[in-house]
Amino acid sequence: MYRIAYIVAAAALVVTTAASAADRAPSVARGKATYLRVGCFECHGTQGQGGGGGATLAPNPLPEEALSNFVRNTTSFRMPAYSPAVLTDGDLADIHAYLSSIPKAPSPDSIAILKNLTPTKPTK
Ligand code: HEC
Repeated sequence: MYRIAYIVAAAALVVTTAASAADRAPSVARGKATYLRVGCFECHGTQGQGGGGGATLAPNPLPEEALSNFVRNTTSFRMPAYSPAVLTDGDLADIHAYLSSIPKAPSPDSIAILKNLTPTKPTK
């Protein structure tokens, strides 16, 4: 009898947890905070630019499902996998929103000071 009550309670918990993750809309601000809090930036850079030992994540991040799948299941010895206990599905959706919000760097052609540069001779 108690066992059934436990199963019902556990099922209710799973349903409410899943519902709350799906209920909230992804947030760029929360994604940035989470990205910094759990340490993604240490390897991937604060803008997802890579260079700290991690791959480039932005601009143009992987689709959300691929990103989440990698973060949850990577067997790379250079990146830890993050379980839902550390990073919820909602957190991952937020991180994806943050990485998607990072703009492309401007083209060098659009920067006036870089135009019409003439090579100079070395002074010595
Ligand atoms: C200790 C360093 C480290 C941390 C912390 C880290 N990563 Fe990584 N990540 C890597 C490395 C290195 C790779 C490249 C994996 C490989 O090829 O072995 C990678 C790869 C990835 C990829 C796959 C990129 C691609 O295009 O294939 C994604 C997505 C990713 N990381 C997201 C994250 C997120 C999100 C976090 C934070 C929750 C995070 N990483 C934390 C080091 C790290």
